[in-house]
Amino acid sequence: MASELAGKVAFITGAARGVGRATAMIFAREGADVVLVDVATNIDGVPYSLATESQLRATAELCEAEGAAVEVVLADVRKQSDMGNAVHRAMKRFGQIDILVNNAGIAGPSGAIVHEVREDEWQLMLDINLTGAWRAIREIGPGMVERKSGSIINISSTAGVVAYRHFAGYVAAKHGLIGLTKAAALDYAPHRVRVNAICPGSIRDDFRVEGIMLSEIARALDVDQDEYESVFTQSQPNNELLAPVDVARAALWLASEQSVKMVGGVITLDGGFSIK
Ligand SMILES: NC(=O)c1ccc[n+]([C@@H]2O[C@H](COP(=O)([O-])OP(=O)(O)OC[C@H]3O[C@@H](n4cnc5c(N)ncnc54)[C@H](O)[C@@H]3O)[C@@H](O)[C@H]2O)c1
Repeated sequence: MASELAGKVAFITGAARGVGRATAMIFAREGADVVLVDVATNIDGVPYSLATESQLRATAELCEAEGAAVEVVLADVRKQSDMGNAVHRAMKRFGQIDILVNNAGIAGPSGAIVHEVREDEWQLMLDINLTGAWRAIREIGPGMVERKSGSIINISSTAGVVAYRHFAGYVAAKHGLIGLTKAAALDYAPHRVRVNAICPGSIRDDFRVEGIMLSEIARALDVDQDEYESVFTQSQPNNELLAPVDVARAALWLASEQSVKMVGGVITLDGGFSIK
């Protein structure tokens, strides 16, 4: 698929590392210009380190090395004004946004039985993992509708289709993101704007994109990382964890014209985990 995204502009949240960085790099390689959005600082209540500004700049350099024009924006998906500013900057620089990847997300606070989740923990999880995607759609959807073109890709999780014990907030938010995907897809289908979701299974840590979510979840749950990884690996029918680039490749397909008939779809990309 050479230059699948030539002439396109992609807006990617949570782009500083992990899946977001892998997606930005593959989109850049395929000819897109990219708007890289990340909070790039720690957030009170998230029990592990989020990305840094230098990681966001590193993503930018990697995309530039692929030939992309890059706009970097520090923005928190919890704030509508931040998202508005990010879109304003993107429009000023590029004049259009063709692809939105709602990837920013947190895995914790998690690890408590459902009734022990505090309200502030619950709100934080939903605010970032579900409402954050809606906020980006609110800013970017109108331009796509006006141009009658666009692809919105929501990064959900297997936790969007099945439950995990002691992850009620994450599971509810990621299920909610599937609901948002379908509802937005219905609203936008007449306007030729497509909305789809990807539900990745567990992604192994990948230092090439500085992805560390698996070890961070293990640490937050106070379990041994190797043991945690092997439990997840064994639960995959193909006995392998995903790599960030696997998710990026699926996002590339959803972003491209190759997937033009995919509307409100949910791709479970999990080595067979959720079919059992
Ligand atoms: N890693 C996995 O095993 C896994 C599995 C399934 C789904 N996912 C989902 O994939 C997405 C990416 O995960 P990852 O593994 O790359 O994690 P990650 O922690 O490496 O990346 C998430 C990025 O989002 C940013 N971010 C967090 N809160 C933000 C906010 N409020 N505003 C803006 N940016 C914010 C972080 O700084 C970070 O750069 C997430 O939505 C996650 O839920 C991950």
